[in-house]
Amino acid sequence: MIEFDHVTFQYEKALTPALTNIDLTIDKGEFVAIVGHNGSGKSTLAKHVNGLLLPTEGTVTVCGMQTSNEDDLLRIRQKVGMAFQNPDNQLVTTVVEEDVAFGPENLGIEPNEIRTRVDKALASVGMSDYATFAVHHLSGGQKQRIAIAGILALKPQILVLDEASAMLDPNGRAELLETVHKLHREGMTVLMVTQYMEETTGCDRIIVMNHGKIVLEGTPEEVFRHTDLLMESNLVPPETVSVRDALRSMGYALKDRSLTAEQLAEELCPLL
Ligand SMILES: Nc1ncnc2c1ncn2[C@@H]1O[C@H](COP(=O)(O)OP(=O)(O)O)[C@@H](O)[C@H]1O
Ligand SMILES: [Mg+2]
Repeated sequence: MIEFDHVTFQYEKALTPALTNIDLTIDKGEFVAIVGHNGSGKSTLAKHVNGLLLPTEGTVTVCGMQTSNEDDLLRIRQKVGMAFQNPDNQLVTTVVEEDVAFGPENLGIEPNEIRTRVDKALASVGMSDYATFAVHHLSGGQKQRIAIAGILALKPQILVLDEASAMLDPNGRAELLETVHKLHREGMTVLMVTQYMEETTGCDRIIVMNHGKIVLEGTPEEVFRHTDLLMESNLVPPETVSVRDALRSMGYALKDRSLTAEQLAEELCPLL
């Protein structure tokens, strides 16, 4: 679905590259999380997926089309929906359903089809009951879900989230994550950039970036086995992983699999 082949990117010739020699393949239906400290190149990578940025060297291929091919760019952008940090910057009208309809309206899609798409998109993010609400009455998490509904109304195959949860409170973050997991279960390919490590425990794969390079990659089980490498990249593992590791060092044989609080609790209860 997405392929980075030896991608290097420089914002300016004189600057050190923001991405260096990135090779990355993401399959259809995969849920991939990207983590890394500030300035490690996450947003730069995300912007390559829909051709907002083009590689200085190497190629990015999305659904079989190269982003450097100008003729394909529009088609690529229809396949890739992008959600960003600030929901207020992504909402353009004052009423929820009008906002979700905004994208399809701009594409000149006929009204009946727009109605169907808006209803479906709102249902997908669990916001059907809010269709006629004023956007400014919603919580941050609800606004971000409306922004995602607006993206879904354009029927993308890939959803890219660039720290979309960063401005939300814990409830909003939980709502958003649950929504993204649901879309993934329904077949969406997801690339999620996040600064919250605990959001990555349920993903198929985690990619750790540092200084414009991929320094660690694997399933959550694999990645959270390397807490030393995470620390070296200035990342703090989820609290559950720290607790697990501390208990292990005290002699408890806990599984790699226990990454969420629920999983860890399940493993610990019988030991108490
Ligand atoms: N528009 C820009 N012009 C020049 N340098 C930039 C620009 N945007 C980002 N950078 C630099 O590129 C590197 C990667 O940035 P970014 O992809 O935004 O990282 P992240 O999203 O992981 O915080 C950083 O060193 C950053 O300062
Ligand atoms: Mg960023």
